[in-house]
Amino acid sequence: MQILTSAAGVCETSAWDSDEPVPRTELLRQVQGAAGILCLLSDKIDAEVLDAAGPNLKVISTLSVGFDHLALDEIKKRGIRVGYTPDVLTDATAELTVALLLATARRLPEGVEEAKNGGWSTWKPLWLCGYGLSGSTVGIIGLGRIGLAIAHRLMPFGVKRLLYTGRSSKPHATEVNGEYVPMDTLLAESDFIVLSCSLTPETQGLCDKAFFSKMKNTAVFVNTSRGAVVNQEDLYEALKSGQIAAAGLDVTTPEPLPTNHPLFTLKNCVVLPHIGSATYSTRGIMSSLAARNLLAGLQGADMPSELKL
Ligand code: NDP
Ligand code: DGY
Repeated sequence: MQILTSAAGVCETSAWDSDEPVPRTELLRQVQGAAGILCLLSDKIDAEVLDAAGPNLKVISTLSVGFDHLALDEIKKRGIRVGYTPDVLTDATAELTVALLLATARRLPEGVEEAKNGGWSTWKPLWLCGYGLSGSTVGIIGLGRIGLAIAHRLMPFGVKRLLYTGRSSKPHATEVNGEYVPMDTLLAESDFIVLSCSLTPETQGLCDKAFFSKMKNTAVFVNTSRGAVVNQEDLYEALKSGQIAAAGLDVTTPEPLPTNHPLFTLKNCVVLPHIGSATYSTRGIMSSLAARNLLAGLQGADMPSELKL
C-alpha cells in the first residue's frame, strides 16, 4: 500500500481495508472506472467485473502466482495486461509442502493430539507408525518452479527415485535426477505423490476415483496446487476405504473448507488453510511485486512480472 500511496502522481487509490475478502457487490461498485485492479486469489475477476470496471481498465495485478481466478480470455480480448508473483514465493511454498508431507506421513497432528489428550499411555512398537522418505519413490505432478523446489528439498531425505509427469519433460529435471514418466506409471510406483501443477481446464478434477485407484494402498498424497484439481468426494472415499494411506491438503474446495466437511472426520487427512506462501518476508515481497506490477501497467512500462497472455 505504501508503494501505491507514494505514487500519488500516477494514480489515486481506493483500498478495501480489511483482511476479509471484499464482498462481490462492493467489488463491482468500487471497480467502476478503475484503470487498475490489485486483487487476491479469492477475487474472481470475470466478465462481470471487467464490464463493471469499463473501458478504462488497463491492468490487473494479482497477489499470487496462480491465475485460475482470472478470466484470461475475457481479459485478453479487452487488451488488459496482467501482473502476477512467480518465483518470489517458490521457496516458501516448497518448504510448506515438505512440512505438510512429513506431518501427514509421520502423523504429527495425531501425535500432538494424543500427547495432549491422554492417549499416550506408554511407548508401543506400532503405535502412530507412518511412512518415511528414506529409500522411497516420490512422484511430482507438475515439475514447474515449485515442483522442482520441492524435489530439491526432498532428495536429501534419501529419496531413491524421483518421478514426474506433466505436458512435457523438463530439462531442469536433471538437477534432481527426475524421470519423466506417464501418469499411470507415476501413480503405480510412487510412495508419495505431490500435486504442484496449475489449475487449468485439463487439470480440473484430475485426481478422481480412477486416479486414486491406481495408487498404492501405502501411498501418501499431498496437494499444494489448487483444491479443484482434486475430486474431494473421491478422495474422501479413497482415504476412508484404505485405498490410499493418507492425504495432506493445503488447498481445498471451497476455501475455507466448512468445519463439518467429511474430510475433517478422517485421522488420515491433514488440512491446512492455504498457507503455502505464508511467511512474513514472502508475503512482503509478493505485495511489493504486485504493487510494482500495477504501477508499471498503469504507466505503460515493462512490468517486473507480467503474465504473457
Ligand atoms: P509453474 O507454471 O512453474 O508450474 C506449473 C506446473 O503445472 C508446470 O510444471 C506444468 O507442467 C504443470 N501442468 C500444467 N498443466 C498440466 C497438466 N495438464 N498435467 C500435469 N501438469 C500440468 O507454476 P508454479 O510452480 O510457480 O506454481 C504452480 C501452482 O502452485 C500455481 O499455479 C498455484 O496454483 C499453486 N500455488 C499454491 C500455493 C499455496 O499457497 N498452496 C502457493 C503458490 C502456488 P507442464 O509445463 O509440463 O505442463
Ligand atoms: C498463489 O500465489 O497462487 C498461492 O496460492 C498463494 O500464494
